[in-house]
Amino acid sequence: MPLLRIIFTSVVEDSYPGDHTAQIVADSTRYNAPLGIASILLAVGGRFVQCIEGPSDGVYSAMTRILSDRRHHSVTIIDSQHTMSLSFAAIGMRLVVGTVAQRAHAEHLLRRVAVDNSRELADELFGLLKQMAGLAVCSAEESAEVLSSPH
Ligand SMILES: Cc1cc2nc3c(=O)[nH]c(=O)nc-3n(C[C@H](O)[C@H](O)[C@H](O)COP(=O)(O)O)c2cc1C
Repeated sequence: MPLLRIIFTSVVEDSYPGDHTAQIVADSTRYNAPLGIASILLAVGGRFVQCIEGPSDGVYSAMTRILSDRRHHSVTIIDSQHTMSLSFAAIGMRLVVGTVAQRAHAEHLLRRVAVDNSRELADELFGLLKQMAGLAVCSAEESAEVLSSPH
């Protein structure tokens, strides 16, 4: 059974004052971990970017929750594809922060999302997320465990 990987961006909702990122990570971890879903979240320049991967049914139900969460809006899917292994050792959800230069690079790429839906932009963002996650690439064992469990 292949896994599904979705990368999306969204805009932080201004009418929810305060930083909700820690609560989002806690909520998402609670939902994702039992479904064998791994995800990486970056919050920068008033936007979120997330890469979410796992068994397709679990990713679909997470996306339903994500789309109806009023702490953000303008959710834009920039990549969706099947994959045979997890890219990140991040079952649940891992928040990435990165260096000042990486955050500036991410902000620059995110400003282009509304007008550029190219594969190059999606690949560049994905590569940057991987760097920011410290190249914490998932082990073959962890991917195999997710693939073989009956989610
Ligand atoms: C930026 C962002 C990322 C999110 N990522 C996930 C996720 O990976 N998995 C998930 O199940 N829900 C995700 N959500 C949705 C929230 O977890 C969910 O709406 C919230 O926990 C509400 O849950 P409740 O109905 O239990 O209160 C995300 C929401 C936002 C705003």
